Amino acid sequence: MPSPEEYSLFAITAPGLEPLAQAELRAMGIRAAAEPGGVAWTGGADDLYAANLRLRTASRVTALAAEFRARTFFELERHARKVPWERWVPRGGAVRLRVTSKKSKLYHEGAIAQRVLEAIEHRVGPLAAGGVVADEEGGEEQGDAQLFIVRFVRDACTIRADASGALLHLRGYRQALARAPLRETLAASMLLGSGWDGASPLLDPMCGSGTIPIEGALIARRIPPGLASPDREPRDYTFTSWPDFDVERWAKVVDRACEDILPASPVPILGSDRDDGAIEAAASNAARAGVADDVDLSVRPISAIEPPPGPGCIVINPPYGVRVGERDPLRNLYAALGRTLRAGAPGWTLALLSPDHALERQVGIPLDEAVRTSNGGIPVRLVVGQVPETS
Ligand SMILES: C[S@@+](CC[C@H](N)C(=O)[O-])C[C@H]1O[C@@H](n2cnc3c(N)ncnc32)[C@H](O)[C@@H]1O
Repeated sequence: MPSPEEYSLFAITAPGLEPLAQAELRAMGIRAAAEPGGVAWTGGADDLYAANLRLRTASRVTALAAEFRARTFFELERHARKVPWERWVPRGGAVRLRVTSKKSKLYHEGAIAQRVLEAIEHRVGPLAAGGVVADEEGGEEQGDAQLFIVRFVRDACTIRADASGALLHLRGYRQALARAPLRETLAASMLLGSGWDGASPLLDPMCGSGTIPIEGALIARRIPPGLASPDREPRDYTFTSWPDFDVERWAKVVDRACEDILPASPVPILGSDRDDGAIEAAASNAARAGVADDVDLSVRPISAIEPPPGPGCIVINPPYGVRVGERDPLRNLYAALGRTLRAGAPGWTLALLSPDHALERQVGIPLDEAVRTSNGGIPVRLVVGQVPETS
């Protein structure tokens, strides 16, 4: 275990996004190791605070609370009572546990949770509330309860304290929804995975509720996702209620991030969609993120796009159509997208979130896989290529 001033940190990502989170941390001066499901490193409170505030591609940041082996409840109790729970749980606080067990002698997740809750109370006194939560990473709010993620794999137990609270994709701005909105973390991953760096024009001609152009504006203006609001006040994070939370240090991390913010996007950022309700939602979301003046939103079909002088980057999350009967119209839509781009945006980079090779081929532009992940349970790939100069 690291020293008491340090944390063994792990930023959880959706599968396939680990290298992007690792690159984000590298840009912050942090060397982290990519592991399946996230990135790991040891750092102090500055790292913990900055990672929560600034990581665009991670779902949550956690700190290691304990690692031990236990094959009996007696061993589990003995180790769990030695964990310094008071580092994360204030007196009279509330706790939630997410327990999973694989290939281990101790397999009853409810019984494991009960022993861990008893160990916490043994050290910090009675809890306001304790509960066991589902295994799945939902988008749910968790109130003030401190979440611990308890994992048994082959009798090795790892306990991590969640530092983020609500999942990090919940930046706070996206309250108006259109159909099939992208998670903000996936939209940011598409942008970073496409190689777009905020220094050339960006266009999403199927922008729906505006997630890609809004995340683009945040990147271009160097606004951390945790400050995506008009007043640039940080969203809530669980670590701010940890007993050792250092309010001055946190203020410094936030101030430093604010100093980097550009007053306006240095490049044009355009979003359009044929659905006027979607564009209305996108406009109100952009206003809530404090980037209304940085994104140019319009109602238009893909056939009527007018890219600004480029080249720049076109980042698109087209409809998937997983239901029967949707394949033929979709094939036509992907083919029309390719024709429009070849005619109107030669030399631009195209980055597309693709559900399958067959649809992708309809676009008629050579595309290479940059990221492989899943979106709402559907396996998807981010494919990137260059629109040919001549058709
Ligand atoms: C999967 S959704 C995009 C969701 C978006 N990324 C978000 O986060 O809300 C696909 C979008 O493509 C739009 N669309 C479908 N066909 C279109 C066309 N021919 N021209 C313009 N937009 C189109 C739909 O209205 C829908 O908003």
